[in-house]
Amino acid sequence: MGRLLIVSNRLPVTVHRKRGQLHFEPSAGGLATGLSSFYRSYNALWIGWPGIDKREGTANKDDIKEKLLAENCYPVFLSQKEVDEYYGKFCSATIWPLFHYFPQYASYTQSSWQAYEKANHTFCDAIVEVWEQGDTIWVHDFHLMLLPQMLRERLPDPTIGFFLHIPFPSIELFRLLPWRSQLLNGMLGADLIGFHTWEYAGHFLSSSRFLLGYDSWMGRITAGDRISKVDAFPMGIDYERFAGTAITSEVEKEVEKLDRSFKDRKVVLSVDRLDYSKGILRRLEAFGLFLERNPQYREKLTFVLVVVPSRTMVARYALLKRQIDELVGAINGKHGTIGWTPVWYMYRSIPFQTLVALYRRADVGLITPVRDGMNLVAKEYLASRVDGRGVLVLSETAGASKELGEALTINVNNDNDIVEALEHALEMPDAEQAERLRIMQRRLRRYNVQRWAEDFIHTLLDSSKLQEEMGVKPLGAQSRRKLIKCYHEAQRRLLLLDYDGTLVPFASRPSKAVPTREVLDLLSELGRQSHIDVVLTSGRDRDSLDGWFGELPISMIAEHGVWLKPRETRQWEMIEPLNADWKEEVRPILEMYADRTPGSFVEEKDFSLVWQYRRSDSRLGELRARELVAHLEGLTTNLDLQVLEGNKVVEVKNSGVNKGRAALRWLNANEYDFVLAIGDDWTDEDTFKSVPEECWSIKVGLSTTAARYNISSHNKALALLHELLQQGEQGH
Ligand code: UDP
Ligand code: G6P
Repeated sequence: MGRLLIVSNRLPVTVHRKRGQLHFEPSAGGLATGLSSFYRSYNALWIGWPGIDKREGTANKDDIKEKLLAENCYPVFLSQKEVDEYYGKFCSATIWPLFHYFPQYASYTQSSWQAYEKANHTFCDAIVEVWEQGDTIWVHDFHLMLLPQMLRERLPDPTIGFFLHIPFPSIELFRLLPWRSQLLNGMLGADLIGFHTWEYAGHFLSSSRFLLGYDSWMGRITAGDRISKVDAFPMGIDYERFAGTAITSEVEKEVEKLDRSFKDRKVVLSVDRLDYSKGILRRLEAFGLFLERNPQYREKLTFVLVVVPSRTMVARYALLKRQIDELVGAINGKHGTIGWTPVWYMYRSIPFQTLVALYRRADVGLITPVRDGMNLVAKEYLASRVDGRGVLVLSETAGASKELGEALTINVNNDNDIVEALEHALEMPDAEQAERLRIMQRRLRRYNVQRWAEDFIHTLLDSSKLQEEMGVKPLGAQSRRKLIKCYHEAQRRLLLLDYDGTLVPFASRPSKAVPTREVLDLLSELGRQSHIDVVLTSGRDRDSLDGWFGELPISMIAEHGVWLKPRETRQWEMIEPLNADWKEEVRPILEMYADRTPGSFVEEKDFSLVWQYRRSDSRLGELRARELVAHLEGLTTNLDLQVLEGNKVVEVKNSGVNKGRAALRWLNANEYDFVLAIGDDWTDEDTFKSVPEECWSIKVGLSTTAARYNISSHNKALALLHELLQQGEQGH
């Protein structure tokens, strides 16, 4: 592997100008703290915004760049206006609240969206500047969701991973975003898309399916001509750093100092960036309630509330700061005594050793976010409890709660829950504390941040093999050239071409998938070439085909092989005498499913009935399709029918009739030295199986097939046919 290019909005170092001097400080927040503990162990370059205005940055460019490069960091400078619009508005006041289930705080403005796009382009330019063949790119978080696709368009075959550090919300929230499709497509430019939990991955997959129509299987999602993998990688911490620091003499001294202040009081601790998603106000209210209900803890307990300043430029954060100040004041005013302050409130960043000392001294870690992608503080608290004591109280809506089953989990909206969990935690016997800690610590020690990163990177590097694993056989440049050459040299050629999904994309209603002028011209010109038979192999009825293609010099197969119309006779022939009496019995069943499934309907052809559910909710459609197939099972064996599940359709027709059998009408009658069959769904598989092995067969779509090759889209099929047309004209 070449270098690892880590890309995130914020670098692990933030540059400030204070009294004319530049200061370099560690950045706050889980992404920066988590990644900075491992990236140096890779051959890595971290690309991001240094937190300083572009003008200041430009004035001191060389100085800043040099210092950052020494830390393996590469700055992307943004102007104050860009920062205000892209970071202050779109990231912090649109995506952040919406993805954390605060839709009432989200604002949607076109100008901030444009700034977001522009900032993603700026990052893209910076990466293109430094990228070298062999580098792996790992893009992080919600600030840069458009970046993977932008990079894919600019770089030759890059390996790109994307990780979202915040929750991916349910589709009911995500769909509120005016730019939802752009964001999904942006992320889908990555080979691997990672989330902290499976729940978030599931939300992403269902949004991609409902909003873009992209299906997925086992976390593999086919988006246009690419397959991306989606998976959960719960981010860990640098366990040994916390556990190791917790037993240093410096921390011992800090703990002794804390002991002198707290005496034998119990300590409850919380540490958060100042953010409404962290549930700080609710926590304070619940603590007030706890004191009221538990007078025995008065003067015997201190709540240490560490709040790290964050996004101070955003109005909602400034408001929250005032609310916290007031509430702390109110609780201390109401319950405090001369010698006792119930809430010790610190609004600042604290040095690492002080943080570890606080973790070590706290009897209870009270971590109650309203929503949190992961929450590393909860894990850091556990890792620092080298003495085998301490209880973690954790919201069930923090990603970390999925892994930390031995914590006391609470519903943050339920005051009683928090109060009872606090009571339980403060009274928990030492042996139980030790047992719960042991189990959680073992897991955190094993799946630490290093393992997390390795796991992600290995999966990313493996993802290039995805297409093979899925049985996909892409038509590479070499095979394509060979195909064209064979066509050029052939004396007698047969083209078996499916229509829907192969020459045109699917439409919400079959009648809307009208052939374009391009398709009509292409078919007619191909049909006019010498020594060629062009056969359109469709599932559509005769009338539709006649209406669209009746005048063209081509042959046609209708209703999946029931009807054939050779170009020479221009007459429809039935493949064999068939009976359609069964339709009376089957139609009411299909109609019942159409009534029960909004958006679906029954299509009737001469010898088949089709239940179409392309416009229905796809999960409901699939469920009903399964039920319908089971329902029809007994009936169809008696009536000698077949039931086929296709691309958003269930079709019932006489058994033994299929496109492959119909194609034999041409294959058996002539000596072709070039045969090409192209199709996109299960009905075309019969054609692929009926053509001799040495013939060319291509499935449109990246999934397993009996065809020899796959191509990704109908556009690629058209491009290939255009080339054949040119070759044919030159050759004969
Ligand atoms: N943290 C910090 N400065 C402090 C106190 C804590 O940078 O003064 C760190 C803390 O150790 C943790 C991170 O900030 O690693 C917070 O990460 P978390 O996942 O809990 O929340 P986020 O801020 O990412 O929403
Ligand atoms: C969360 C986000 C990070 C972000 C951090 C601090 O952890 O997931 O991407 O860096 O908060 O927020 P800030 O706005 O200061 O970068």
